[in-house]
Amino acid sequence: MGAASRNLTPVDDAAFDTYNPGLMNIRLVNQSLFTQPLPAVVVFAFQKEPPAVPASLKPALQRLTAKEFDGSDRQLLLVHTVGKAGVRAARLLLVGLGKPADFTIEKLRRATGNVVKRLRDLGLDNAGLQLQTDTAEAVGAVVEAAILADYKFAEFKAPEPTGKLKGLTIFTKLELAAAKRVVHCAQIGAESANYTRAIADLPGNVVYPAVLADRARALASEVNLTCTVFDKAALEKDGFGGLLAVGGGSSREPHLIALEYKGGPADQKPIAVVGKAITFDSGGISIKPGDRMDEMKFDKSGGCAVLGIMRAAALLKLPVNLLGVIAAAENMPSATSYRPGDIVTSYKGTDPRGITIEILNTDAEGRVVLGDAIVYARQRGVQAIVDYATLTGGCVVALGSLAAGLFSTNAALGAQIQAAGERTGERCWPLPLWPEYRETIKSDVADHKNCGSRWASAIAGAVFLEKYAGKVPWAHIDIAGTANITEERPYLAKGATGFGVRLTLELLSQWQAVEPVAKAK
Ligand code: BES
Ligand code: MN
Ligand code: ZN
Repeated sequence: MGAASRNLTPVDDAAFDTYNPGLMNIRLVNQSLFTQPLPAVVVFAFQKEPPAVPASLKPALQRLTAKEFDGSDRQLLLVHTVGKAGVRAARLLLVGLGKPADFTIEKLRRATGNVVKRLRDLGLDNAGLQLQTDTAEAVGAVVEAAILADYKFAEFKAPEPTGKLKGLTIFTKLELAAAKRVVHCAQIGAESANYTRAIADLPGNVVYPAVLADRARALASEVNLTCTVFDKAALEKDGFGGLLAVGGGSSREPHLIALEYKGGPADQKPIAVVGKAITFDSGGISIKPGDRMDEMKFDKSGGCAVLGIMRAAALLKLPVNLLGVIAAAENMPSATSYRPGDIVTSYKGTDPRGITIEILNTDAEGRVVLGDAIVYARQRGVQAIVDYATLTGGCVVALGSLAAGLFSTNAALGAQIQAAGERTGERCWPLPLWPEYRETIKSDVADHKNCGSRWASAIAGAVFLEKYAGKVPWAHIDIAGTANITEERPYLAKGATGFGVRLTLELLSQWQAVEPVAKAK
């Protein structure tokens, strides 16, 4: 089916394609929502400030106790409006935002997520939204959070009666063309994060490297990207020793997937976004304990984020050139697995020689496949490299699931990423790349080893990767703790989060060129 013929998601009267048949129709209006025949109007309010409602509803609201509703953070109260003068909307859903001084856009996303879940529980499939602060940022945030909150991995479950939110009507006095642009960006960003989640949530028996390659090809033809896939034979021909070693133990062959998007000037070097895509990480010969091993289906999340980023960049026509690189392999134990003690040679491209790795633990496989992918990106002449990888348990120990670990050889690049993370609620926190840490991965027999001591394992992983990027400004984002969650959040269900998609879109839309690294590592 052609891209234009299906899945149209209208923003007001503008229409565009989405991946998702569960489309959400976002409408913008600049007249009171209460005069519209909506099943519910959602009104956001600050603590101890009267919600902005028609006069006929005020007496009832004035009688509410503080426990019922006074605008405190996370409060939700449903009020029926039947018989009230000048009100056609059937219900009013009051939403507390807490104290005005504590307000953040992330709080608004969370409040919106709670609203969407309540509407779903109430069996309502559309509603009007009246914001407390009518700004472009707030309109974008509610659209984004509503779409993210509407995603659930249910492909393999019998259909449930609880429906999806079909439509949102947002009241805004903002200039319509500008507001539509904001809605359009938020919608594509959140739908692309959901597209990433929908792949990342699939298990290892359904998604393996060749399947990711098929998904990339399908995406490329849908949104007009160039897709190049290196299958096992191509990887062998060009000497991608890292991917071949890690993927060697599985009957599912490793693949390197490259996606290109050209939205910037023809002479401008692309920005590379590289993703780890271990479709299942059993640990290989250094096999993991059984407990929670199932979560290792999420070890492909970095690669899935790259797919979502490329999708969104193309649909939004971002004015940059991009190279997406996905290092896909399955890490399994078998008679053909790579083993501890093996010495593996990474992809060298046009370098005189490839970096050699002494394998000490086959479970430290992410860095081994990413070495190949980062060299590939560097060889393609990119201006900067950002990689996303569920790289280390050590990063989860350090930061939990609330922030990703951020490493960069270029301070300005690191700062841009951190700032974009704050704005999108996909937080990153810096960790050091001090040269002393390189000592921990020195090898007697190869250029370095893939596993250091027990301590600072997230940093050991990062200093390992640093060597492959050379002088190209590079940032590594360890998403081991943030790529998937085991408890639901206000606007994110359990499972894949799509972490990195919205963050990178924000980064790219505010992109500031960075200087090459003075001295290669
Ligand atoms: N995919 C794992 C990292 C991981 C752990 C992601 C927990 C999400 C949750 C990675 O391949 C791995 O196994 N890393 C090892 C490296 C060690 C052997 C040096 C780790 O962190 O334990
Ligand atoms: Mn591993
Ligand atoms: Zn892994």
